[in-house]
Amino acid sequence: MEEEKQPEPVSRRLVNLLLGMGLVGTLSGFMGAALAYLWPRRGEAAGSALLQGPQRPLHPEDIRENQGLVGRSFLGKILVVRRNDTLVGLQATCTHLGCTVAWNPEHQQVECPCHGARYDLQGALLRGPARQPLAQVELVVVEGGIQVLPPEEG
Ligand code: FES
Repeated sequence: MEEEKQPEPVSRRLVNLLLGMGLVGTLSGFMGAALAYLWPRRGEAAGSALLQGPQRPLHPEDIRENQGLVGRSFLGKILVVRRNDTLVGLQATCTHLGCTVAWNPEHQQVECPCHGARYDLQGALLRGPARQPLAQVELVVVEGGIQVLPPEEG
């Protein structure tokens, strides 16, 4: 009678090694995702003094009279509104919970779509729930588009 050949038992050490490698791989994936989320975004707009639109730098002619557009710069999101042929810049991040505000040409005010805060074109608070005004941002038209100036120290 022939003896059946039994498969070699997988050693406990090998199983532990494979489980350990799987655990390390899983943890590395979670850590990588967490770091990618927490790491500051380094895009073209993050360090740019030129206001960046979705595809290219914003240019003054992109903004018609009584219209507002939001661009990105080293100061974050900036709302630019053209009124009386002058460009006005405001921080576009609502001081309540951080939604992006927009210019409402009909109401002639800056409005937050999230909880209804309202600001005037100088950034002054007209209606809550926000409690702080929007900061004004100084803009300069340059050859490449609209440049954001750093806030004055004071
Ligand atoms: S985030 Fe703007 S009103 Fe709440």
